[in-house]
Amino acid sequence: MSRYTDKVVLVTGAASGIGKASAERIAGEGGKVVCVDRQAEAVEETAAGIIASGGEAMAFVCDVTDQDSINATVAATIEKCGKLNALCNVAGVLRFDHTLELSMEDFDFVMNVNARGAFMMCQAAIPHLLETKGFIVNVSSTAALGAHAWTLAYSASKGALLSMTKCIAVEYMLEGLNCNAICPAAIETPMVEAAAHQIPENVDVRLFQKGALPDGSFAPPSDVASTVAFLACEDANHINGDHIRVDGGLMT
Ligand SMILES: NC(=O)c1ccc[n+]([C@@H]2O[C@H](COP(=O)([O-])OP(=O)(O)OC[C@H]3O[C@@H](n4cnc5c(N)ncnc54)[C@H](O)[C@@H]3O)[C@@H](O)[C@H]2O)c1
Repeated sequence: MSRYTDKVVLVTGAASGIGKASAERIAGEGGKVVCVDRQAEAVEETAAGIIASGGEAMAFVCDVTDQDSINATVAATIEKCGKLNALCNVAGVLRFDHTLELSMEDFDFVMNVNARGAFMMCQAAIPHLLETKGFIVNVSSTAALGAHAWTLAYSASKGALLSMTKCIAVEYMLEGLNCNAICPAAIETPMVEAAAHQIPENVDVRLFQKGALPDGSFAPPSDVASTVAFLACEDANHINGDHIRVDGGLMT
């Protein structure tokens, strides 16, 4: 008997990086994982990989900026699995820009995925999570706690996600719903690899130093997945409305 036996867990961003590692970790502990992402082929691969390893998974293609797509995904989850025990909002996007050059389109794009998308997922899932006294885990960022240069939209979106986490925790605490956040940094994923090529031109890179560990190292996505798996089940029963940094001590 594992801690996720008989549990249904929906993970967004499951096609890649931290979301994929979280889906694999939870499935490895006996959970039935609903893998959700806008990248069709890659999210199917995550679910297929879990099934090939003896786990239970299904894949849904869903853009978290599209409310109809979210509602259809949650409805299909309930139809196929009968219940939902946990929602892990991992999908996210990162953009680097000079604040004065940040377009309204890019600002809205980042906010729509990272903040509004997670909110819409919560709104669709909460009625079902109340039935199971379930768990929400929102993957925020150290950008919500401190500041990284040239990431105004990203930092604002992750700050909003952290505030939403606390609101949901307080609003539903008497009904047994539990909502926490994780603030990672320096995790080796495609997002971070792409970011290295997005630093704006004509910037003083000394401002970037506080975004990296002293030895320049990165941790694997599995180091965040272990915390996602901890917070999305009864092991975190008495932790509510809080965040855990998974940043190797960067913000300490
Ligand atoms: N890697 C890090 O160091 C780090 C640090 C802090 C926070 N985070 C956060 O962790 C989360 C996962 O990031 P990652 O590093 O694994 O990146 P990643 O790019 O590997 O994974 C992000 C996933 O989100 C999906 N996604 C993006 N927009 C979507 C949309 N509109 N609808 C559905 N899916 C969408 C992508 O397709 C991708 O599969 C993000 O929220 C990110 O902000 C990562």
